[in-house]
Amino acid sequence: MIELKNAGCSFQDSLAPKGWFTAVSTLTACFENGGRYAIVGESGSGKTTLARMIAGLQRPSSGNISVDGSPVYGRAKAGKGHFKKVQIIQQNSTSALDPKLPVGRSIEEPLFCFFRMGKAQRRERCRQLMKLCNLPEGYYTRLPSELSGGEQKRVAIARALAAEPQCLIFDEATNGFDLPLRKKLINEIIDLQQQLGFTLLFITHDMELAVVVADEIFVMKNSNLVERTAFSGDYSVFHDPYSRMLLEAGGLIEAPADRNHKMKERIDVQ
Ligand SMILES: Nc1ncnc2c1ncn2[C@@H]1O[C@H](COP(=O)(O)OP(=O)(O)OP(=O)(O)O)[C@@H](O)[C@H]1O
Ligand SMILES: [Mg+2]
Repeated sequence: MIELKNAGCSFQDSLAPKGWFTAVSTLTACFENGGRYAIVGESGSGKTTLARMIAGLQRPSSGNISVDGSPVYGRAKAGKGHFKKVQIIQQNSTSALDPKLPVGRSIEEPLFCFFRMGKAQRRERCRQLMKLCNLPEGYYTRLPSELSGGEQKRVAIARALAAEPQCLIFDEATNGFDLPLRKKLINEIIDLQQQLGFTLLFITHDMELAVVVADEIFVMKNSNLVERTAFSGDYSVFHDPYSRMLLEAGGLIEAPADRNHKMKERIDVQ
């Protein structure tokens, strides 16, 4: 289980009133093992900063974060053990892959780093991971630049899965892709989570995606968590006006104005 206790993150900013800008206000939450969670909110609301704190890449400026009771940040930086447990697919997967490293070697790196696997064993595990992520075997020797954006994303997923993480964070996993590819990638992510049982933290701007992927949704606005709710198909569980605005923007519920308009239309017809 991942637990955040009053975890927050501020950055020094000479233009901010007190010299500090709050990217994530103190937040207390937990993510159960094997759960599917979405963190949704507008650009700049603090989603990536929160994800990076959980992934061990950004030390909180207040509070603490633990995984299965062990603190992520002690006196030192987050250690190798944490990176094995929690993997993140960063917002920009191109920069997450070494441009000079063939994709097979990229996927094999965590196999050596975390499991000290020998060459033949790595090759075989890499083949399995590529298959799991719908990557043709022949791509083993290709460079990232020889792959499409969607394929690069799959390589980043295969590489993250190589660590056999307990939790996988997808930061804007499908941003910038056309609708059919987005749907395909989302279905692949859900399938992988069901097969492998990792905790899924799915970060997105889109409420439409959040409700498809997650059983529990965290809504962030201006660095604050404005709502956290379990979701199983009934939109009335969302109460915060901002969450409802995101649902309206995604066409998942009618805006009150539309409802009034339609009601009026009906009355006019009668
Ligand atoms: N290292 C940093 N130094 C200073 N400010 C930062 C840093 N990282 C993030 N911020 C600021 O914190 C705020 C939240 O950024 P963050 O990347 O977490 O937002 P986000 O919700 O992921 O946005 P998007 O949806 O656009 O990816 C932004 O205003 C950003 O400029
Ligand atoms: Mg972000």
